[in-house]
Amino acid sequence: MQAIQRIEPIFDREIEVICPATVANLVCGFDILGMALKDPSDSITMKLSREPGIRIQHTDAYQLPSDPAQNVAGAALLDLLQAVNEPVGIEISITKKIKPGSGLGSSAASSAGAVVGANYLLGNPFEGKDLVRFAMAGEKVASGVKHADNITPCILGGVTLIRSIFPLDIVQLAAPPLHVTVVHPQIEVRTSDARQILRKEVLLKDAIRQWGNIAGLVAGFLQSDYALIGRSLEDVIIEPVRSILIPGFDEVKKASREAGALGGGISGSGPSIFMLSKEAATASTIAGIMQDVFDSIGIDSKIYITEINNKGCEVIER
Ligand code: HSE
Repeated sequence: MQAIQRIEPIFDREIEVICPATVANLVCGFDILGMALKDPSDSITMKLSREPGIRIQHTDAYQLPSDPAQNVAGAALLDLLQAVNEPVGIEISITKKIKPGSGLGSSAASSAGAVVGANYLLGNPFEGKDLVRFAMAGEKVASGVKHADNITPCILGGVTLIRSIFPLDIVQLAAPPLHVTVVHPQIEVRTSDARQILRKEVLLKDAIRQWGNIAGLVAGFLQSDYALIGRSLEDVIIEPVRSILIPGFDEVKKASREAGALGGGISGSGPSIFMLSKEAATASTIAGIMQDVFDSIGIDSKIYITEINNKGCEVIER
């Protein structure tokens, strides 16, 4: 990208960016579909500095690196600042409530929030698509691969489709109201490990089934067809491999569907599991069922009962 000439930096003002959790893949759409959630979310405070460089602080207990090149937010900001033809610096303080390694787009929330905040403080020189591109540098630090299925809904909100990553082609999908129940068993699955174990080839018959599900899911969202959404929430390629990393996964899925969930599966690379419901009451019932499964196998879990976040990262002036 060419250096941007026209920035209007706002110095001496601090902003807060609320960065939502996201559910990537949406079961059948590995690396291409994602959805932003209203809860949980991270908080980032930022301000510009006349002293070049990126200075990162953490106010949580996760001991994430503060060296910008090693930090997902820092790597994303380094990419953004390269496209800015002015020697500005950034002070950033990150408070994570989305636990790293949860499968809820923790790294994406940091890198997306950082570039959304920086863009605001620079006078909004960049479009959403540019911001997704910068934030992907953060995902590369986190998982070794540039993928945008968490970042895009985190920045833009709602449900998004990455039709292509090189070149970046993003489609925002309208979706009907949906209640989302997420259980986060307190075990860690590293995205890099969950990617490493995947087979590199797929059978044509599996690919055909997966194409049908992805197309069905997209059509279900666009037509507000809840039954079609439910039928399409099936993954014959990734889930059978990754679900072995999540004790209790099959029970959670079966019991949730029996209780009326439309369907669901692994959130991102796990270990969180999400379920979509049409009714709020079903979403609450499923929360109890999910926690019961993990209680019965002696694993602590955290529950979120939430909805789709259609705004994405939100900037608040302080
Ligand atoms: N699509 C990614 C994966 C999301 O499933 O590996 C996790 O970052």
